[in-house]
Amino acid sequence: MSLFSTPFDTARDTALVTGAGNGIGRAIALGLVGEGVRTMFADVSAERVRAAISASEKPGLAAPWVGDLARPEACDELLAAAQAALGEVTHFVHSASPPRREADHALAVDRRTWQEMHAVNLDAGFHLARELARRLIAAKRPGSFLFLTSLHAGTPRNLLHYSTAKAAMAMLVKELAKTLGRYDIRVNALVPGAIAAGGFVADPALARHVPLGRLGQAKDLAPMALTVLSNKLSAYVTGAAFVVDGGLSLTNWFEPPTLD
Ligand SMILES: NC(=O)c1ccc[n+]([C@@H]2O[C@H](COP(=O)([O-])OP(=O)(O)OC[C@H]3O[C@@H](n4cnc5c(N)ncnc54)[C@H](O)[C@@H]3O)[C@@H](O)[C@H]2O)c1
Repeated sequence: MSLFSTPFDTARDTALVTGAGNGIGRAIALGLVGEGVRTMFADVSAERVRAAISASEKPGLAAPWVGDLARPEACDELLAAAQAALGEVTHFVHSASPPRREADHALAVDRRTWQEMHAVNLDAGFHLARELARRLIAAKRPGSFLFLTSLHAGTPRNLLHYSTAKAAMAMLVKELAKTLGRYDIRVNALVPGAIAAGGFVADPALARHVPLGRLGQAKDLAPMALTVLSNKLSAYVTGAAFVVDGGLSLTNWFEPPTLD
């Protein structure tokens, strides 16, 4: 029997992907639909959700949801919409994150921008995951959750509203994994490097620091995301952080050796 041919149970597995309108979330949501998983595409931008779903191989498996996850009530609305469209959500991906602006450094970032970054990444991630977990526990179903964290959960980004939100999210993954493991609900982190996906305006010169010699693309993240999400491929994996960065995090004050 092939291990890789059917990574999901398409009769039972269902997915909710936040930030599915663009970049990495969109690539993961499209990947899930491509594998035959009924998936809700959630995003603050109606136009992006529409475009993402129409790019899908099987739009009939995709359900749209549009709302601002910085609003606590929006999380409840999303949960109700997901339940109505999909029934129990078994696979949850939290990729939504407000734009990062270089001008929002420590001395400039305003209270609203700070709060929005934490509200979407951390608060919405926690409340959605906890409610989805409660429902899975009641239904005695396994689950798999994936949070998009960042290398900047552990190293500064000059955007402390972003790095602090991601650092907290990295701990959220570990806490949830430890608590929910007994219910067969796995919780992991995907840690992208420099991905020219939309949320990060990449200077192509950065490629010099990437051992694999190029910036990443959203589609570089989807295969690892689906592997970790799959209960078949990653049944014994929880509380882990998967770095997909072309080796960027190996960069330090030593240049690679000169080879001739
Ligand atoms: N691109 C990178 O290099 C990189 C690196 C490390 C981590 N990440 C993380 O990966 C995730 C995806 O990054 P990306 O570059 O693909 O981002 P992106 O900006 O391309 O996509 C994020 C999506 O989230 C949506 N969104 C923003 N605010 C929202 C809100 N309030 N409610 C609902 N949806 C909202 C946006 O509309 C957008 O479609 C983010 O969590 C990001 O922090 C990205």
